[in-house]
Amino acid sequence: MTAPMINRQVLTLDEFTIRQLRHIPHATGELSSLLRDIGLAAKRVNVEVNKAGLVDILGDAGAVNVQGEDVKKLDIYANNQLTGVLRHGISCAGIGSEELNDFVVFDDEISNKSKYVVLFDPLDGSSNIDVNISIGTIFSVLRRVSEPGMPCNQADFLQCGTRQAAAGYIVYGSSTMMVYATRRGVNGFTLDPSIGEFCLSHPNIKYPEDGKIYSVNHGNFFQYSEPVRNYILACQQKTAANGGPYTERYIGSMVADVHRNLIKGGIFMYPGTTAKPEGKLRLLYECNPFAFIAEVAGGKATDGHRRILDIQPTHLHQRSPFFTGSKHMMEELEQHLQP
Ligand code: AHG
Repeated sequence: MTAPMINRQVLTLDEFTIRQLRHIPHATGELSSLLRDIGLAAKRVNVEVNKAGLVDILGDAGAVNVQGEDVKKLDIYANNQLTGVLRHGISCAGIGSEELNDFVVFDDEISNKSKYVVLFDPLDGSSNIDVNISIGTIFSVLRRVSEPGMPCNQADFLQCGTRQAAAGYIVYGSSTMMVYATRRGVNGFTLDPSIGEFCLSHPNIKYPEDGKIYSVNHGNFFQYSEPVRNYILACQQKTAANGGPYTERYIGSMVADVHRNLIKGGIFMYPGTTAKPEGKLRLLYECNPFAFIAEVAGGKATDGHRRILDIQPTHLHQRSPFFTGSKHMMEELEQHLQP
């Protein structure tokens, strides 16, 4: 019997991040190490997400988070796993989490020497857990501005998205994937459950310049501004003659919605509404990381008026209207939104 062929072309996340170091003179490996730490937390979260229907980890934890939303037990688990790996790693001086009121300063000898702080939404789309729909983790890595050797502080977290060194997400879907961007590119890794490793499956991801998918919550249609409504109507009126017809796809789990559009081409929108002019999504945990990924992949991201990455945050949990996607679709949206 001949032994099965092993495909040595497939790189694991660890192998890939180590190889990337060769291209960067004077690299210390801190960012690579941090990405591997996040990959480890993601694998642990994935195990629990996969058995959410089986064990008593499913359901409300009975608490309400700082955004006033019900906290699920898995949110807490994911938050603790991410905080734990980053606290014990060598690259992170502190974290900010959608689940926590304030940022956390690790303040120990190794952490204080670290170059980065990390902001994350540990389990986005968690209202979908109960119904077995894809959910995700989103993270943003900022190069700190405070003095090395000292504990990090608020200024490290309240930086524009342009200061991100990396950003990414994990989608817990029909398979589990980790996608992350550095300035060098966007790469996607699929978890091979048989060996417990993220393997490079989507190298050098680029946003298709055009797409046919638009993703928006139609239930809020009459609460959107007139220019946004007009753009949505234009999407519905597309024909084969002008790039259509378009398809509407909205899971209500941003990681899954944006991931699909990144691969297939499309636009994702969470506009402000009359009730919530700033929309629902958080600038630091959701908009900035996806805006960074979009731009590195050749797409765009705005709040309807400004480039997301240029917005100077004023507080940790601030929200922003959010539009992101394929370049040409975003340009058409921008024409509708022009004052
Ligand atoms: P949550 O984590 O509370 O489930 O929120 C998910 C986020 C985001 O992932 C998704 O795109 C959006 O909220 C959906 O909100 P609407 O239900 O208002 O459309």
